[in-house]
Amino acid sequence: MTADAPPTPGPLRLPELVGARVRLRGWRSTDAHAVREASYDPLIPVITSVPTVDSEEEALAFVERQQDRLRDQVGYPFAVADADDRAVGFIILQLRTAVGARGSIGYWTCPSQRRRGYAAEALQVLTAWARDLPDLDRLELYVEPWNEGSWRAAESAGYEREGLLRAWERVGGEPRDMYMYAQLTAGSSARGEHRPS
Ligand SMILES: CC(C)(COP(=O)(O)OP(=O)(O)OC[C@H]1O[C@@H](n2cnc3c(N)ncnc32)[C@H](O)[C@@H]1OP(=O)(O)O)[C@@H](O)C(=O)NCCC(=O)NCCS
Repeated sequence: MTADAPPTPGPLRLPELVGARVRLRGWRSTDAHAVREASYDPLIPVITSVPTVDSEEEALAFVERQQDRLRDQVGYPFAVADADDRAVGFIILQLRTAVGARGSIGYWTCPSQRRRGYAAEALQVLTAWARDLPDLDRLELYVEPWNEGSWRAAESAGYEREGLLRAWERVGGEPRDMYMYAQLTAGSSARGEHRPS
């Protein structure tokens, strides 16, 4: 029996991931405008740490928190940048490795930038990279059934709906059902560990 490898010390290193129209990169103070716009969305501040108020100071604190997430090895938080390198959204791969080797993905786009394919492409680009991470077996995301834009983005990036998790999470204090969407990483698929023997 081998002991578990200790976690690598130091912060996670965020790669830059390039797609046809979007680039996933680190958050910068000049991206505060995107956070300020997202603060007006009825859902984003409820399910993320985006502030509920439109404030430059709060937006900059949000940007700084993304550095903390790397330092604390919580996960990989990316700004979704358009062709002009302007932030239009957010996507994160959170590491859920305490029990399983899972990565959990969350995302949002600025209200003015929606229905342009940014969420779908950001998720495709993130997934293509995350599928090859050796320490993960599974990538997953949770989507409320009414949130068609989100589950359509998930399906376009190759995620399968595995089921409905009833009262899975409280959103704004209310229990909400969530679709569980997932796909296996390349390493997990190759090992075939998910198949019953
Ligand atoms: C959900 C969200 C990320 C979608 O972002 P987006 O940039 O508009 O998504 P895309 O433009 O990439 O659209 C993806 C697909 O969903 C469809 N879509 C987008 N918004 C939709 C809506 N409100 N209703 C129905 N379909 C929608 C698009 O037409 C596209 O469909 P296609 O696969 O047929 O091309 C965005 O609305 C958002 O940030 N919402 C608030 C936060 C949130 O819900 N995050 C996800 C939590 S699980």
